[in-house]
Amino acid sequence: MKILITAGPTRESLDPVRFISNRSTGEMGFAIAKAAKRRGHKVILISGPTHLAPPKGVKFFSVQTARQMQKEILNNFSSAESVVMAAAVSDYRPAKESRVKIKKSKNILNLKLIKNPDILEVLGRSKGKKILVGFALETGGLYKNALKKLKEKKLDFIVANQLTKKQNVFGTGKTNVLIIDKNGNKAHLRSVTKDEVAEEIVSRIENLTNWTNWTNWTN
Ligand code: CTP
Repeated sequence: MKILITAGPTRESLDPVRFISNRSTGEMGFAIAKAAKRRGHKVILISGPTHLAPPKGVKFFSVQTARQMQKEILNNFSSAESVVMAAAVSDYRPAKESRVKIKKSKNILNLKLIKNPDILEVLGRSKGKKILVGFALETGGLYKNALKKLKEKKLDFIVANQLTKKQNVFGTGKTNVLIIDKNGNKAHLRSVTKDEVAEEIVSRIENLTNWTNWTNWTN
């Protein structure tokens, strides 16, 4: 099957020197791309800036901003059977991007930000039979907040991470995740690597699409 995966942060420029972004390393999305490729799927990986090399054999697109990411996703959406949004998309961007470096002057500098499109919510509105998988990163109310995102974005399942002082979800190392399906069923994966989470995600997608039983897939 063809799986479209997003990864990494997005960057929203303030001026030619500075940007707004987040701490995503891209490792989760790249691990999902590697697992999906290993399991025989066609993989399209769309990523914001990271230091990672794309896995061999995947179709790779590099983007910077949320709107560039949305454009690239929409270019590839129709041919994909499933989409996994592991990217940490910036919710806001500067209302104005200065063409020249912003010079320091007053003690307080106010930045005006405007909302970016919620890409997954847009995809949810035209999902048809596609499988949509999202992520939720929370600092509290993990189940409640992730369930809300699952419903609002019409997801098949969501992978929820809680960021705490003890658990840094960014980068390498073991993690705990909560997977919630569209019926509200929970599954806890405790002390697992990102590769293990990736295998679980791809295997759930395969089960949802009954992939092993497909006989008429010709693309
Ligand atoms: N997402 C997206 N477009 C955005 C923001 C988020 O497609 N503009 C996707 C992410 O890729 C992720 C899911 O939506 O799969 C949830 O992202 P998250 O940042 O946890 O939540 P938000 O919906 O942005 O809500 P909030 O920041 O208020 O928690």
